[in-house]
Amino acid sequence: MRLTYTSDLWWKNAVAYCLDVETFKDGNADGVGDFRGLTQQIDYLAGLGVTCLWLMPFFPTPNRDDGYDITDFYSVDPRLGTLGDFVEFMRTAKDRGLRVIADLVVNHTSDRHPWFKQARSAKDNPYRDWYVWSDTPEPDDPEQVVFPDKENSFWEFDKKSGQYYLHSFYKHQPDLNVANPEVRDEIARILGFWMELGLSGFRVDAVPFLIENVNPKLPSPHDFLADLRAFMGRRDGGSILLGEVNLPYKDLMGYFGGGNGTELTMCFDFISMQRAWLSLARCEAEPLASALRARPRPPKDCQWGMFLRNHDELTLDKVTDEEREEIFAAFGPEKTMQIYGRGLRRRLPTMLGGDLRRVKMAYSLLFSLPGTPVIFYGEEIGMGENLDAAGRMAVRTPMQWSPEGGFSPAEPDRPMPGGAYAPDRVNVADQKRRPDSLLRWFQLLIERYRECPELAWGETTVLDSGHPGVLAHRCDADGASVVVVHNFTDTATDVDLSLDDLGEHVLTDLLTDATFEVARKGGVRLPLDPHGSRWLRAAPPKVAPDDASVTSQ
Ligand code: GLC
Repeated sequence: MRLTYTSDLWWKNAVAYCLDVETFKDGNADGVGDFRGLTQQIDYLAGLGVTCLWLMPFFPTPNRDDGYDITDFYSVDPRLGTLGDFVEFMRTAKDRGLRVIADLVVNHTSDRHPWFKQARSAKDNPYRDWYVWSDTPEPDDPEQVVFPDKENSFWEFDKKSGQYYLHSFYKHQPDLNVANPEVRDEIARILGFWMELGLSGFRVDAVPFLIENVNPKLPSPHDFLADLRAFMGRRDGGSILLGEVNLPYKDLMGYFGGGNGTELTMCFDFISMQRAWLSLARCEAEPLASALRARPRPPKDCQWGMFLRNHDELTLDKVTDEEREEIFAAFGPEKTMQIYGRGLRRRLPTMLGGDLRRVKMAYSLLFSLPGTPVIFYGEEIGMGENLDAAGRMAVRTPMQWSPEGGFSPAEPDRPMPGGAYAPDRVNVADQKRRPDSLLRWFQLLIERYRECPELAWGETTVLDSGHPGVLAHRCDADGASVVVVHNFTDTATDVDLSLDDLGEHVLTDLLTDATFEVARKGGVRLPLDPHGSRWLRAAPPKVAPDDASVTSQ
């Protein structure tokens, strides 16, 4: 394979790992995770093979939305350490070749942020216009309220100053007014500050709210994103913005910044994620296959961020009501598992009934779908949720390092799950010792994903598998091909693929030691275990199969 894949565009085939410093590892025995603890675990993360860490908000916060309510953008939450600890962590991560990005939460601040305190103190305060005020708020669309269990409006009346302020999320999170150029400058300063300390970019929280929900409307909201990206590019050409844009593809594409990709470098693919869950619920490939077929290609240097679970609820807002009910029935039938009427507050293994074959298949799928996989801490060992915790906190329990827990020498601030998903049943230490563990499977998938740049860089085609329960796709780049098959059903099956241009090629399974010969006319029969998967590299006839391909420069 030609060496056309350059690590200049490192995000194209990164493996991103999202973690919350607060729940990863406690380094000072107070029951709360911190930067010192995280720094001790960098070798674990490097050994897993991930290439980019995404840190959830670690800034000073009253913690009424798990840190997504910030009171100081230029500092570290004292519970998690100091700026000095942060810099030591960055140095260690860099030493192990890991890039780091952080949540950029600038749609809003905490209502306890000094800016908001100033703003609400008087109508003529210089900070007044940093937020969005109205005498007569526009009528709300209840459908649009993000947290319907707690809020029923986007507007809250501020008694002291006699006006309403906008809050797209909780009422304690007033929206910043990005129509104000001073606010936009300040946001750029925040980016610049953390980039100077080594960050390679940001996961941008709630992007459509940030640029669309402004009053008065930003004249050209997308220019703001493009300006931010250009600013970052001037400072560091390899920096990225990974956006949370949960919109249909046709509305989402504009957030990449048109054909040139001048805005967000990557967008999460919420559509494929939801369709993948429908496929898993139905044991049928079609829901996911049709989403992949309909998905536009991102602009040249941009990429999709692929995920199955994250730190929020599994949102099912982009499937129909009937489809959502199907997924609820399959993976979260009890009311306590559901949230906001549209999501599930569960982790993947519990939803899949703890069936390791199915769990392994789901992650094989995640890593082989075209895009950059983003995993949430604990997914690699199959952690479960704690439904006793409130709301979305169910999936944000401490990392399980050993049978005793291993997160902290003290009692963890947040309780871990009990029963079949308690630390003595699910932990890193045990899985390191077991060759068939989920952790080892993740390591293999990550290694293979990095060795198959076709998956991230190539042209993807969804193939006709001839079997409703099997998804088959191939990715081609520079004359090299990887063919991938996934069996959504719990019965062993053979699939017949026709790979017209690969006649007489040898397909080498990169996950086991099997090889298959493609017939002269392109037909090949592939046996699949129940919930089995295969990643197959095609090599031309009479050439030794090349299973460890060329990777990046
Ligand atoms: C995003 C985050 C979520 C947070 C919200 C408000 O959706 O993913 O966790 O509560 O923004 O900041």
